[in-house]
Amino acid sequence: MIREAGARDHPTIHRLTEAAFGWDAEAHLIAALRASDDSVFDLVAEMDGDIVGHVLLSALAAPPGVLALAPVSVAPDHQRQGIGSGLIHHAIGRATAAGWSAIFLLGDPAYYTRFGFSLDAAESFETDYPREFFMALALKSDAFKSMPKKVEYPAAFRELG
Ligand SMILES: CC(C)(COP(=O)(O)OP(=O)(O)OC[C@H]1O[C@@H](n2cnc3c(N)ncnc32)[C@H](O)[C@@H]1OP(=O)(O)O)[C@@H](O)C(=O)NCCC(=O)NCCS
Repeated sequence: MIREAGARDHPTIHRLTEAAFGWDAEAHLIAALRASDDSVFDLVAEMDGDIVGHVLLSALAAPPGVLALAPVSVAPDHQRQGIGSGLIHHAIGRATAAGWSAIFLLGDPAYYTRFGFSLDAAESFETDYPREFFMALALKSDAFKSMPKKVEYPAAFRELG
């Protein structure tokens, strides 16, 4: 079951994110994106009443109408059961239905290409992030045609390094 996270879920999501990554930087990123009001879709996967996965999508500072997907976390003892895929598919569906134009992310192409993200789609955009992890997915046909090419993440990402 995938649903919107509420304020009472935040401590659980913090612990889950720390456990998935093995450090706390991404957990603090989530808190910062909520605090700056850049968070748009804050979704949890629940199993038997327990939160076992989480994904956050936030609005890029530029271009307008575009989201960043990060981070996504699945509890270590629930990984490789399709929960991460379910969350990402659900997030893409929500973003499309809400009229967002595209999603960018930084991640391993071996994982994210299965959802339609590609390095090629992001190639013409300007970023300071490493090209080999910088991917995009258009949610509307021709979304990238007339889009400004400078990609600017919300300020909270700068803290992550
Ligand atoms: C990445 C993550 C969210 C995937 O969630 P999940 O529920 O385990 O993934 P799914 O069950 O949907 O998919 C499993 C598949 O993804 C692959 N996969 C998982 N993590 C991967 C990664 N970092 N790179 C490449 N492939 C990966 C697995 O090999 C598996 O492939 P297979 O189906 O061909 O065997 C989860 O492993 C996690 O929380 N990792 C730690 C945090 C992290 O690295 N987050 C992503 C960066 S923002």
